[in-house]
Amino acid sequence: MVGLQGSGKSTWVARHLARTHTVVSKDHWPNARRRESRQRRVVAELLAAGARVVVDNTNPAPADRAPLIAAARDAGVPVRAVWMDTPAELCLARNEVREGRARVPLQGVFATRARFLPPTTAEGFDRIDVVRGGAPDGA
Ligand SMILES: Nc1ncnc2c1ncn2[C@@H]1O[C@H](COP(=O)(O)OP(=O)(O)O)[C@@H](O)[C@H]1O
Ligand SMILES: [Mg+2]
Repeated sequence: MVGLQGSGKSTWVARHLARTHTVVSKDHWPNARRRESRQRRVVAELLAAGARVVVDNTNPAPADRAPLIAAARDAGVPVRAVWMDTPAELCLARNEVREGRARVPLQGVFATRARFLPPTTAEGFDRIDVVRGGAPDGA
């Protein structure tokens, strides 16, 4: 998954992939140290065991996505990006109405937006899907 905080990634995953894929997210371990290396290990283990995996994080830059693409290559499976292309204003508005921990600091959304580069096949993705998240019911 690729998209800002509040862009609708987790909602889309629950609707479209949760039945067929194991969902991995650093959000599952909010207090763990070394969440990035832990996530890489978990993804590699799941792929080695033959699972289909979806990584539900913002993954805004090629550098964030490269290790995931490499993990898929190592496992010999295709890798797809699903880009939740939701306007930042809408992400911020959705974030505002969230409760407690689910709400991220505004600064976090802006920092992610500043690093953001759309996913491309040049990075190694076999397929890229763009979800225009501004629609009321996603897609
Ligand atoms: N297609 C949509 N239309 C309207 N609201 C949505 C849609 N997708 C998600 N939301 C709402 O927006 C907020 C953020 O969605 P979420 O899936 O948690 O985003 P992310 O995982 O990218 O941070 C939630 O309150 C969710 O209910
Ligand atoms: Mg989420």
